[in-house]
Amino acid sequence: MDSQTQMKQAVADAAIREVKSDMVLGLGSGSTAALMIKSLANEIRLGKIQNIRGVATSFQSEVLALELNIPMIDLASVSQIDLAIDGADEVDPGFQLIKGGGACHVREKLVASKADQLLIVVDETKLVQNLNQSFALPVEVLPNAWKQVKEVILEMNGSSSLRMATKKAGPVVTDQGNLILDVFFNDGIKNPKNIEMQINNIPGVLENGLFVDLTDKVLVGKIENDTPMVYSPSRAS
Ligand code: 5RP
Repeated sequence: MDSQTQMKQAVADAAIREVKSDMVLGLGSGSTAALMIKSLANEIRLGKIQNIRGVATSFQSEVLALELNIPMIDLASVSQIDLAIDGADEVDPGFQLIKGGGACHVREKLVASKADQLLIVVDETKLVQNLNQSFALPVEVLPNAWKQVKEVILEMNGSSSLRMATKKAGPVVTDQGNLILDVFFNDGIKNPKNIEMQINNIPGVLENGLFVDLTDKVLVGKIENDTPMVYSPSRAS
């Protein structure tokens, strides 16, 4: 196992220690969240955690959870989610996030917004001082609006590119049937709240990957003396 996967595994296992029986649990997307889902399934199989109902944030998490026999419930039929556990692409010191590396940020944000607690699990490569300096901001757009949205983002000093699929010709098509523009702003993102609102206000945009003031706790995996460790940083004010 490479060192990044070791960090992800450690943080995925640590996240499951925050799960209690009878919870309605938001199940995140991406490789770290997938390890967390596998860890959860193991605890359920061993009888250590009981009566969990999972809420998927993507086809990825839904398929994985069903394959592992985790009971699932539809987002529309739950009135409350006790805890959502998800990964992130960038985490700043104030716990503002960029998500959407897996193009799942629309449902991820819906689940996070409905959750009493959002727990973010990352390896330490995801911690940044300023958002959007090395990871592009994913923006989900209606298929026939991508060019128009790209032009508006350019007026906001952002350059964007349509995300292309691998193992399929053409662009990535999201779980909702839309396209993704990956955006870099010239100076990064200094005011995530404003940028989140401005982008979502562009006609044709469904949702962007800025998660502002949603995160309650972050668990970070790192390697120290060749051993995977997990810590929980304090939020900078
Ligand atoms: C998917 C996401 C993921 O949580 C994010 O991309 C992190 O993924 P990974 O754990 O594979 O690094 O937001 O839309």
